[in-house]
Amino acid sequence: MNAEYPVARPRRLRRTASMRRMVAGTRLHPAELILPMFVKEGIADPQPVASMPGVVQHTRDSLRKAAHEAAEAGVGGVILFGVPLHKDARGSAADDPRGVVQLALADLASEVGDALVLMSDTCLDEYTDHGHCGLLTESGEVDNDATLERYASAAVAQARAGSRVIAPSGMMDGQVGAIRQALDADGFTEIPILAYSAKYASAFYGPFRDAAECAPQFGDRSAYQQDPAGPIGEALREVRLDLAEGADAVMVKPALAYLDILRQIRDLVEVPVAAYQVSGEYAMVEAAAANGWIDRERIIMESLVAIRRSGADMILTYWATEVARRLRA
Ligand code: PBG
Repeated sequence: MNAEYPVARPRRLRRTASMRRMVAGTRLHPAELILPMFVKEGIADPQPVASMPGVVQHTRDSLRKAAHEAAEAGVGGVILFGVPLHKDARGSAADDPRGVVQLALADLASEVGDALVLMSDTCLDEYTDHGHCGLLTESGEVDNDATLERYASAAVAQARAGSRVIAPSGMMDGQVGAIRQALDADGFTEIPILAYSAKYASAFYGPFRDAAECAPQFGDRSAYQQDPAGPIGEALREVRLDLAEGADAVMVKPALAYLDILRQIRDLVEVPVAAYQVSGEYAMVEAAAANGWIDRERIIMESLVAIRRSGADMILTYWATEVARRLRA
């Protein structure tokens, strides 16, 4: 090996911490993190979610406190999921002004004001007794068009209660347009829609179904959520349709196993793109870390950096408050 070889030495830019910090191409900021939170009706104390160590189903009071902590840590937003006491076939609690998520939205609107962005997931699965994301036909299929009216009504109820971003997650065709029309008709022209545009029928949602108590009582969601092995262009098509219907921002879900989709979408659109690091991604890391098999903090930061690097402007993560604090420290 002669003295001039190698000429190119990429390691020069990696030698010291200050050098690495200066040349970093991907940075995380607390404001781009969004914390998903569960609020349950009729409980006296927060209930731990067994498959998501560190995550709880909140009471209205503990939710206030946790949202306040998230705001103090600089987290950008929270997204609420309601767990009602009574469920029925049409998901009545979803648009009931006295429904738990509506009450919790009103609490937070007064508690945290504009210190963070108050968002709400709009779907029916947490509210239906059968656990599907929409109304069922007699043969047990999810009825797309009948469900749209329910989503529109739920979105308006959430906006009236104080939600500042409506995030429809049910994967019904036309849901963004139906919600946009209903919000506008009710005077909420200023409320943006963050569409769960590319949402896959994923086993990574397993622990969420404990947290939100919304496992389907029969079948699965494959007839409305996207097939992980589905047509290559499907995610882009969903995104284009949602934008045409008036979506202000779009989402990819899950995150880590769908970074290719995230990158494709980022390269296509002009609107902000969010990625949802879902319950199964969280649970896998917590479980392996609890066994001492991985370095928990490094894995969390590395996965978030990967999601950011792949094009996410915003990341929904159950670690939002913890990570925001670490970023500020
Ligand atoms: C539907 C919804 C789900 C998640 C967010 N919104 C569940 C599903 O589609 O089955 C999953 C989030 C997670 O796994 O963390 N309301």
